[in-house]
Amino acid sequence: DKGNHRHFMEKEIYEQPEVIAHALGHYVNFIQNRVTPLGDGIDFAKVPSLAISACGTAYLAGLIGKYWFERYARLPVEIDVASEFRYREIPLSPQSAALFISQSGETADTLASLRYCKEHGLKIGAVVNARESTIARESDAVFPILAGPEIGVASTKAFTCQLAVLAALAIGAGRARGTVSEEEEQALVHSLAEMPRIMGEVLNSIQPKIEHLSRELSKCRDVLYLGRGTSFPLAMEGALKLKEISYIHAEGYAAGELKHGPIALIDENMPVIVIAPHDRFFDKTVSNMQEVAARGGRIILITDARGAAVSTLDTMHTIVLPEVDEIIAPMIFSLPVQLLAYHTAVFMGTDVDQPRNLAKSVTVE
Ligand code: F6R
Repeated sequence: DKGNHRHFMEKEIYEQPEVIAHALGHYVNFIQNRVTPLGDGIDFAKVPSLAISACGTAYLAGLIGKYWFERYARLPVEIDVASEFRYREIPLSPQSAALFISQSGETADTLASLRYCKEHGLKIGAVVNARESTIARESDAVFPILAGPEIGVASTKAFTCQLAVLAALAIGAGRARGTVSEEEEQALVHSLAEMPRIMGEVLNSIQPKIEHLSRELSKCRDVLYLGRGTSFPLAMEGALKLKEISYIHAEGYAAGELKHGPIALIDENMPVIVIAPHDRFFDKTVSNMQEVAARGGRIILITDARGAAVSTLDTMHTIVLPEVDEIIAPMIFSLPVQLLAYHTAVFMGTDVDQPRNLAKSVTVE
């Protein structure tokens, strides 16, 4: 049932404040602002490193998770798409743990990577939506994302719930390893707790701006997305979402890689979507944006109130979000990214919930 939404994808985008609150309730204690103990399937205090593998959007969630596990838990993370991971013959320590992220819990390549790690003696954790799935069944620890059924083929709420769970796991691992102090943990969990409310505010306010920009995007052949830090995987997720439902060619790049190739593509016809909250990378990303502007590229800057106030560029358009703590920025900035893809596809008249050639669950290699 789509309720009063035109598509399941739209419904699932708007469900995010509610499902994220529900998912977080499972992993954090909002009264004490602490992460609830992660169970004994994986001993995060002892593992020397972490392997992560997944496909598509789940892989991009894992990439953001890598930034968090490395930063907060000081855990080195080896991550790859499952179709590569399973064949790379990666040397893995049996003392390590591996996380597999999957909405369906049935993706063939992800399952094969899981079995590879299991054979090498690693402890296995599953970050899944389908708790009765094969991937969940074969794991030592199951971390449900509690997003509820996701019907739209393009993943939206599962992505942000995967992020919320990975954030909680990284903080919990940091606490177990002594790399996150009690005060830091409380501040981080407090930020997570604010997320559902902020998501609701953003969803209630950005629609007109997004529709306007989507009309422009629907006339384009190619779109480039740029970001730094955790905004880099989010740039790739934005490009993936746009191409899979609108069929417009899109690429996500690390902002710093622009000058190593993709800058050759920039002209007046190439919109560049820059994802840049006012974080410690902001100035660097803005200077990459200037390189785009100097070549006549059309910029859509997705930033926060502080970033909008200090960026002096005559950008084509700015989408302004509230200022939020760094740990929740990827989830908050997912919203305009998802809505831009959605409305562009709606303008183009594509089958948003059932894009051509795609299946919700990929159970063959
Ligand atoms: C993109 C999308 C796919 C899936 C991928 C993995 O919107 O939905 O890229 O993320 O096929 O699927 P799961 O998470 O079921 O393993």
